[in-house]
Amino acid sequence: MSEINFDWLNKLPKVELHLHLEGSLEPQLMFALAKRNSVDLPYKSLEQVQEAYQFNNLQDFLNIYYQGAEVLLLEQDFYDLTWAYLSKCQQQNVLHVEPFFDPQTHTARGIDFSTVINGINRALVDGESKLGISSELILCFLRHLSEDDALITLQQAVPYLDKLKAVGLDSSEKGHPPEKFSRVFAKARELGLLTVAHAGEEGPAEYIWTALNDLQVSRVDHGVSATSDQALLAHLITTGMPLTICPLSNTKLKVFSDMSEHTVLEMLELGVCVTVNSDDPAYFGGYMTENFVALADSLAMTKAQAKQLVSNSIKSSFISLESKDKLQQILADYI
Ligand code: HPA
Ligand code: ZN
Repeated sequence: MSEINFDWLNKLPKVELHLHLEGSLEPQLMFALAKRNSVDLPYKSLEQVQEAYQFNNLQDFLNIYYQGAEVLLLEQDFYDLTWAYLSKCQQQNVLHVEPFFDPQTHTARGIDFSTVINGINRALVDGESKLGISSELILCFLRHLSEDDALITLQQAVPYLDKLKAVGLDSSEKGHPPEKFSRVFAKARELGLLTVAHAGEEGPAEYIWTALNDLQVSRVDHGVSATSDQALLAHLITTGMPLTICPLSNTKLKVFSDMSEHTVLEMLELGVCVTVNSDDPAYFGGYMTENFVALADSLAMTKAQAKQLVSNSIKSSFISLESKDKLQQILADYI
């Protein structure tokens, strides 16, 4: 560990910009919902879950992640899932969140779009009033499905635009480049939504370029493959384009063989607007605090670097300038 300990990082005011709500489904809640909804799970015990949660790549993880989501059926299930995540945020002093959800994972099983978004939204509203955690919600399209399927999903979202801030793109990256979704992202922008996309997690730097140029994203999710392209790195620096980095995710999915190999602090020192996030905390071994702790343990992150990472998240969030100023002040006051 560097000059920082767990308690300092846990109390550090934080903002999370890359979190899949379905990826925050802890085994305990998964078992409880399976029982409540009479859904069969392939696991009988926590030990069996832990055995299954060993991944060699993104696809290994996604197969398990989509299976876990099958316990979510009713509006209350989506509420409980979101509420459990927000409760964790409160414990870790995460003050603002911009979570993703994957409606197609649920509508493909016959669940109404309204069931999903109403449950999530009700918890986010309660999160603001009862826990003081502000939020903006991001709808992600599954990139292994067709653009036509994404267009149907966007159509389903139209009555709920007041509950959405942006659209994103997730799931299996390789072979599904951002430009496959140019039309649906253009439609989303016409509807007044901002755009983000997973790019350069397992895929090449080229996918980051097309996320920027074809999808006109405001943030790149992951983006770690940018380090292989000097022109891209220079472009990210001059434009201040944020990258939502997920350290524990990257090591669990073997994007980096060890945390000591992670490039997030090198990019930070180069002037890239990198941020730290948990991605799918129930599957990757930790929430926001644990991701920061991993950087302190393996990369000797300093307090100044940790605060710069949070400041980048505030700057990169989709809230008003006034709200950003308030959060920056809270962060500056923390020593
Ligand atoms: N990458 C792509 N799709 C995802 C991820 C991720 O890290 N987590 C949940 N869906
Ligand atoms: Zn992700």
